[in-house]
Amino acid sequence: MYLTEEQQAWYDGKNGFPLQKAMEIIVQLGKIYGAERLIPISSVHMPGSSVVVSGEAGVKFVEKMAETGVFRVPTTLNTGALDMESWESLGYKRATYDLQCRLTGAYQKMGATALHSCTPYLGGSLPRKGQHIAWGESSAIAFINSVVGARTNREGGPSALASAITGLAADYGYHLDENRAGQFLIHVDTPLKTSTDFGSLGYWTGKIVESGVPVFTGISEASVDQLKMLSAALASSGSVALFHIVGLTPEAPTLDAAFLGGKAQSEMVFDQKALNETREKLNKHHGEDISLVAIGCPHASMEELEEIAGFMKGKKVKSGIHFWIMVSVAIKAIAQRSGYLDIIKEAGGKIVLDTCPILSPMQDLIKANGLKSMVTNSAKLAHYGPGQIAIPTYYGDLEKCLNAAVSGKI
Ligand code: F3S
Repeated sequence: MYLTEEQQAWYDGKNGFPLQKAMEIIVQLGKIYGAERLIPISSVHMPGSSVVVSGEAGVKFVEKMAETGVFRVPTTLNTGALDMESWESLGYKRATYDLQCRLTGAYQKMGATALHSCTPYLGGSLPRKGQHIAWGESSAIAFINSVVGARTNREGGPSALASAITGLAADYGYHLDENRAGQFLIHVDTPLKTSTDFGSLGYWTGKIVESGVPVFTGISEASVDQLKMLSAALASSGSVALFHIVGLTPEAPTLDAAFLGGKAQSEMVFDQKALNETREKLNKHHGEDISLVAIGCPHASMEELEEIAGFMKGKKVKSGIHFWIMVSVAIKAIAQRSGYLDIIKEAGGKIVLDTCPILSPMQDLIKANGLKSMVTNSAKLAHYGPGQIAIPTYYGDLEKCLNAAVSGKI
């Protein structure tokens, strides 16, 4: 692999440990994937920002890099292990808070912004089409590659850290034109009305195409929230990092452009039957009683908060029900100014910052709050909930989830 003189000096350790280690990681990855060179990147979104993922060993590694390491590009932190402001009242343990402070502090020392969110593109970091970036967090990767048209591979904690320190990534995978061509053609033959419908489409597709690049036809309109849900679901049942919607996403003005002149490996139809079956498959809670309603996976937008506040105005969350709306600190600040926060709090809902059930030590919260079942409008959360945190999960549209928060029942 070609390295410039400066890059070679970093690699040889002439500029200290963090640069040497970072170069070692990136060059190794580049060799594995056949990259010919390294390319400059314009931002990093850091996975492994939760101590539930990094563990104590990961925290120590980041602290070691932070002794002298400095980030060369704007870097935002992904979702953390707990709400840094209300952790105690939510039932998190002091030890988790202390460890998370060490990890967040080490990243901040190197120059990161402690956004602690999986939707940095809603407030915090927004690249433009064609820009090379190094992002982690599967839902954000699928969104930023597909909806925005920026270029990133699926970075893990060590490679994203290495890119933040060097400002570089190895030139392979989704950085290259030829790997951005569609591979599967999905005809959507049923109206998609809600974000949950988009999540169901993503879940169904991800299972079939796995890590391939699907191209959708038959979708003439979609909101940012619906595309956010589609991205998260594609990356949870499968490991899709890039998709195209003909006539909607920036690299697919036409069917031919989406496939870069090539042909689909296979074609499929997503119809009403597939939509209904996917909803049923994702619904793993068949009783009536619920204990946690979780909205904001991926982290909620202003529009979602507006809708929730509109519904909750003058209503009350049923006593004993935990109603969480997960957001970034940026969205919380705007919601505060818009008055949505007061309405949601007045109704008994909780705005939960910085975290989510999957990246939290959820067993602590389940014990502390006696949680027995969860309700969500997110296909990603419905996918991971029953397995990862062992809690039966009901999957349904936002309105149904909000009704459940008020009535205490599905
Ligand atoms: Fe975000 Fe957590 Fe969902 S990181 S996409 S809220 S599982």
